Amino acid sequence: MIICFAHYKGGTGKTTSCLSVAGFLALRGYKVLVVDLDPQGNATSGLGVDKDTINKNMYHVMKKNEEISRIIVAGPVKGLHIAPAKQELELAALRAYRRKTEAQVLINALEKVKGYYDFILIDTPPVHGHFIINGLAAADKVIVVLDPGVFALEGIETLQNAFGNFFDKLGLKLSIDAALITRAPGFKLFRKNYALEMKKEVEILLGRKVYMIPYSDNVYDCHVWGLPISHLKPGSKVGRAYSKVVDDIIEEFETKHKVKGMLEEEDEV
Ligand SMILES: Nc1ncnc2c1ncn2[C@@H]1O[C@H](COP(=O)(O)OP(=O)(O)OP(=O)(O)O)[C@@H](O)[C@H]1O
Ligand SMILES: [Mg+2]
Repeated sequence: MIICFAHYKGGTGKTTSCLSVAGFLALRGYKVLVVDLDPQGNATSGLGVDKDTINKNMYHVMKKNEEISRIIVAGPVKGLHIAPAKQELELAALRAYRRKTEAQVLINALEKVKGYYDFILIDTPPVHGHFIINGLAAADKVIVVLDPGVFALEGIETLQNAFGNFFDKLGLKLSIDAALITRAPGFKLFRKNYALEMKKEVEILLGRKVYMIPYSDNVYDCHVWGLPISHLKPGSKVGRAYSKVVDDIIEEFETKHKVKGMLEEEDEV
C-alpha cells in the first residue's frame, strides 16, 4: 500500500506524521519504505540518516538517472528503509510536469521495489509542484495533514479543487482518504475546544475519517534523536494517537489482502 502525506501549507506536521506512522508499522513487523520527496530532507534526518553521508538520493531518481533500489538506505529502525532527499532535489523540480508521464516518474520508479515492502510512505514538501503531484499520483491513499488553524482549513478545499482538476485533465485519480489534525490543543478557549470544532468541520468537508494528534514536546525530542515516536515514546499521548491511525491503516491493508487472497483462490478452482 502506498500512502502519501500531503498539504501544500508549510509546517502542518506532514513529516512528523509520516515518520510516526512508518515507525508504528515497522514496530508491528511490516516492511516499510519512507520516500523523502522534500528537498528539505526532514524525513531523512528525522530517521537518523546524516544527509552529508548520502550521495545518490531522490534527485537522481526523479531525474530518471538512477534506480530507486540503488539509493535506498537502512536507518536505525529495524524494518524501516528510507529513500533519502537533500537540497539538490529542488533542481529536479524545475522540470516541466505538464504531461502525464512527468506526473508518473515516482510511480514508475516505485514499481521496481513495490513488491519488497508492505507499505511505502511518501513525505511531500509544502509547495505546489512536481513532487506533490508525483506523490499524489503514486499513492493508493492520501492523508492530508492539517494544523488547527483556519488557513489550513482553506487549504483543503484548494487541495481538492486545484489538484482534482489537474488530475482529471491528466486522466489520473485523486482521492483524499483521511485527515490528521496535528498539534491539537487539549484546552478550551471561551468554552470552546477549537480543535474539536475543526475536526467536525473537516469531517463534513471531506466526508472522511479525521484523527486528532495532540500537541506535545515529545515530538521535538523525536527530531533531536532521529527516531519516530513509536521507537522513543510509544505510550505517550502522541504515540497512542498515531498508533490508533496505524490500527485503521493495518485493518484496511489486511482486509484488502484477505479479499485479494480469496479472489485468487476462487480463480484457481
Ligand atoms: N503533535 C505535535 N506536537 C508538538 N509539535 C509538533 C507536533 N507535530 C509536529 N510538531 C512540530 O511542528 C513543526 C512542523 O512539523 P513537521 O516538520 O512535521 O511539519 P511539515 O508539514 O512536515 O513541515 P514542512 O511543510 O516544512 O515540510 C516541527 O517543529 C514539529 O516538531
Ligand atoms: Mg516536512
